[in-house]
Amino acid sequence: MRYKNKIVLITGSGSGIGKAAALAFSKEGGKIIVSDINEDNGLKTVSEIIKNKGEAYFFKADVSNFGMVKNLMDFIIKKYGKLDVAINNAGVGGDFAKITDLSIESWDNTMSINSSGVFYCIKTQIPIMLKQGKGVILNTSSVAGIRGLPNATAYSASKHAVIGITKTAAMEYAKNNIRINAICPVFTISPMFDPEAMDKLKEGISEKLKANVPMKRFANVMEQVNTMLWLCSDEASFITGQAISVDGGLTA
Ligand SMILES: NC(=O)c1ccc[n+]([C@@H]2O[C@H](COP(=O)([O-])OP(=O)(O)OC[C@H]3O[C@@H](n4cnc5c(N)ncnc54)[C@H](O)[C@@H]3O)[C@@H](O)[C@H]2O)c1
Repeated sequence: MRYKNKIVLITGSGSGIGKAAALAFSKEGGKIIVSDINEDNGLKTVSEIIKNKGEAYFFKADVSNFGMVKNLMDFIIKKYGKLDVAINNAGVGGDFAKITDLSIESWDNTMSINSSGVFYCIKTQIPIMLKQGKGVILNTSSVAGIRGLPNATAYSASKHAVIGITKTAAMEYAKNNIRINAICPVFTISPMFDPEAMDKLKEGISEKLKANVPMKRFANVMEQVNTMLWLCSDEASFITGQAISVDGGLTA
């Protein structure tokens, strides 16, 4: 019960890694604010938590909209009076195309959700945590935030930015007792990364991707979530400004 009575916000928790995190942090006692642009999925996460006798509330927010992000943080303070853990996890894969073929609109959209979204969240979370005198923030980057990913310039650039924001914010607020880290997942089976659907589009692609991973398999969402549970807990009390790869050895 590492999160007993802690207020935990998870963006993008209507699906995949974020949803699994919402269920897991709730199992450890956290009161979860499920936030997502997809209301139906967000409400489903909340019902599952409540069915398991946990506590959760859904707040719809598009992280690429600063006004909505600000409303989300204001709501949390009004309802709960504090924010212990913020997991800025919402993201999109963006379009897959070579740089010369990638449209300006597509670039802008991926950057605004994956990078500006994390900046807007952190910008509105830090004043709350400064007032409390403590707090933990965890951003979801990617191994594509550490190395290039051909045909995914916007995604890779946006996730590099997440690491830049994480490291800078961590250094700015370390003395204020606010820890800020990132995790960098590799291929993790979720609605965003669905090997069966990918194989239907291009036969054999999933086996090729798997072959690049030293552990020769994809991750499951709990392998990302277990790292989140540890990194946001007091067990990681001296860790800040880190981008931790959960990648079966890919970036080794
Ligand atoms: N699955 C992977 O292989 C993988 C690998 C590396 C990094 N990641 C990152 O992990 C995070 C979670 O990915 P996932 O695999 O669970 O994907 P997912 O698609 O299952 O979940 C992403 C969630 O974010 C929400 N979302 C999208 N745009 C939003 C917006 N503008 N505002 C608020 N919510 C929005 C979606 O509705 C969805 O519920 C993402 O940031 C992703 O880039 C995933």
